[in-house]
Amino acid sequence: MQFYRDTWVEVNLDYIKENYVNIQNHLQGGTKVMAIVKANGYGHGAQQVAKHVVESGVDYLGVALLDEAIALRSYGIEVPILVLGWVAPEYASKAARYGITLTVFQNEWLQALEETSQPLTLHLKFDTGMNRLGINDENEAKLIINTIKQNPSLKLEGAFSHFATADELDSELVNQQMSRFSNYLSLMKKEGITPEIVHFGNSAGAIRFPEYEQQYVRVGISLYGLSPSEEMKEVLPFSLKQAFSLHSRLTHVKQIGPGDTVSYGATYEASEKEWIGTVPIGYADGWPRRYADKGHVLVEGHYCKIVGRICMDQLLIRLPYKVDVGTKATLVGEQKGLEITVDDIAMQNDTINYEIPCLISSRVPRIYKKNNVIIETMNQILNNS
Ligand SMILES: Cc1ncc(COP(=O)(O)O)c(C=O)c1O
Repeated sequence: MQFYRDTWVEVNLDYIKENYVNIQNHLQGGTKVMAIVKANGYGHGAQQVAKHVVESGVDYLGVALLDEAIALRSYGIEVPILVLGWVAPEYASKAARYGITLTVFQNEWLQALEETSQPLTLHLKFDTGMNRLGINDENEAKLIINTIKQNPSLKLEGAFSHFATADELDSELVNQQMSRFSNYLSLMKKEGITPEIVHFGNSAGAIRFPEYEQQYVRVGISLYGLSPSEEMKEVLPFSLKQAFSLHSRLTHVKQIGPGDTVSYGATYEASEKEWIGTVPIGYADGWPRRYADKGHVLVEGHYCKIVGRICMDQLLIRLPYKVDVGTKATLVGEQKGLEITVDDIAMQNDTINYEIPCLISSRVPRIYKKNNVIIETMNQILNNS
C-alpha cells in the first residue's frame, strides 16, 4: 500500500504503447517519434511514461525544462533528451555533463557560454510563424551558425521548428511555416551545415503530414491518446486510446431534505429528499472549482451531478439512491459502458484536453497498469514509487 487517500489517477501503459505504435506505423520515410514527456508527461508521470516508451522503441525524448531532463537522467533514462525551452547559459555545462541536448536560438546565449569539459549537443530552433521561441532572421541564423562553428565543444546535431496551427484543418499558415523552414535548412546547407536531425511535426503535424521529410516528429498529446483538437477527430487515421482516468471512493453518504443546502455559500438547495455523496477530490487536487454545477461523476454506472461549490479537498454529488461509503466514483473514465472523457471535461471547462491531466496535482497518486495489472504506484507526497 503506497497511498492512504481514496483518490487516484490510473494510467494505462498499454494504451500509450498502442498509440505510439500506431503513430510510428503511420509515419513515412523513416521518421521516428520523439516522445514529449514535459510537464510530468502531460500529468501522466514523466518517469514512468518515459521508461515505458523507451522500452517500446522510442529513442529520443523531449521536455520543456532542464530540471525535467535531469530528473529523467536521475531515474535512469539513458536515451538522448532534448530540452525544448530556453535554459540559462550558465547551466549549459550541467546539461553537457548529463548528456542533455539544449535548444539554441540566440547568438548572445552562445557567447555567454562558459567552457564545458564535455561536448554540448545543440538543436537550432527556427521561428517560422509561432513567434514564441526561435531564430526569425537569416542574418541572426548565419551569426549563430558561425559562432557554433568556432566553438569545438559544441555539436550542432539538429534543427527544428514548431507549428502554430497544425491542429486546424486550414493549412495556410502550416504551408507558410514549412516553406520558411525549408529556406532556413537551405541557408544552413549553404553555410556548410547539414543537421543530422530535423524535426518539425507535433502530434497534429505527424498525423496530418506523415510524408513530410524529417528524422523525428515531437509527439505529445496523441501519445497519451488524446486528439490535438476537436476538428482533427474527423481526420484521425486510427483511433487514439485515452490512457488517463481518475477515480475516487465516496467517503460519506447522507440524505438531505427539501430546503437543505450543500457546500460553501449554500448555492445548491434540495427540492426533495436526496442522497448526497462526498467525493474526496477538490481544487487543490486540480479539479477545477468552476466545474461546480456543470460536471458529473460516474457512480455504479450512473451520471451523478456535482452539486454545490467544489471545496479544496472535496466535492459533493447527487446520488440516484443510497450507496455504500467506499463505492467507486469515476471522474474521468468508464463505468458500466458509460464514459466521461478528458475531452468532455475540457469542453465543459472551456479549455483544451491538454490542460486537464496537467492540472491534476501531485497530491493525487498515479497508478500504472499493464495488462490490467498494477505494475507501479507513484505517490509524490510520500515520495515513493
Ligand atoms: C516545441 C514543442 N514540440 C512538441 C510539442 C508536442 O505537441 P503535441 O502535444 O501537440 O504533440 C509541444 C507541446 O506543446 C511543444 O511545445
